[in-house]
Amino acid sequence: MSRIDNDHLLNVGIEACLAASNIIMEAADLPKSSKNKGKTDLVTNTDIGSEEIIKAVIRSSFQEHSILAEESGQELTPSEYLWIIDPLDGTTNFVHGYPSYGVSIGIYLNNEPLIGIVLELPNKKLYTAVKNNGAYCEGVRIKPSETNTLIESLLVTGFGYEHGDDWNTNMDLFKHFTDITQGVRRLGAASIDICHVACGKVDGFWEYDLKQWDTAAGIIIAKESGCKITDIRSNGHRLDGNSILITNSLIHNEFVEQAASYLN
Ligand code: IPD
Ligand code: CA
Ligand code: CA
Repeated sequence: MSRIDNDHLLNVGIEACLAASNIIMEAADLPKSSKNKGKTDLVTNTDIGSEEIIKAVIRSSFQEHSILAEESGQELTPSEYLWIIDPLDGTTNFVHGYPSYGVSIGIYLNNEPLIGIVLELPNKKLYTAVKNNGAYCEGVRIKPSETNTLIESLLVTGFGYEHGDDWNTNMDLFKHFTDITQGVRRLGAASIDICHVACGKVDGFWEYDLKQWDTAAGIIIAKESGCKITDIRSNGHRLDGNSILITNSLIHNEFVEQAASYLN
């Protein structure tokens, strides 16, 4: 099968993100009507409209690629390329006007991470990474923080919509890490949280039960910036795994040691 120039893929992905952001920002100050996918899991017409335009932009260049998108599911083809899309990450924030949400597009080649694009909104900061080429915010190379102890760290986590065992464990972790760090933030858009570790605004991020579209782009950006990515027990991270831990690498071991006694 023919390989496509990475810059071409990146540019189409950026074009798709920017088209989506026009739809999202036009709707940001208007009244919103949302439907519930679960008890507290919301979807708006903006999620749907954003996803439609992203897919239209991708399809105008790559008719044959596979796509996995949050709202419309998967379109699998024999292509080596797979686009994984969260058209609006942080929908709850968007609905309430809380300023932390974004668009996330990961491009995978033979199921390996290749390109990550996250557009942070409403402040419109574009994070990008191509495998083996570093990570960038607005075209400027980014790297994680140099904080090397938990007591000096600021962390961020999130809580999914299912309030089961993992959610309860995370409540315990939230309390413990709030006690032994400078604080734990809970902002509500996983892709943005991950980019904030990649550029050193926070020192680490963990969460349970994320979906592939929440992390597909962010993990490429984090890896290329120099972050360490595992699951919460420090085993290899899988996109379909049930936990993720991303740190500046320097606090990783201490985090895992501290978390261990709270895990089942
Ligand atoms: C959610 C956000 C949130 C995380 C949830 C996700 P959505 O995505 O990333 O930070 O805690 O687990 O489902 O529903 O806003 O796209
Ligand atoms: Ca999401
Ligand atoms: Ca979403």
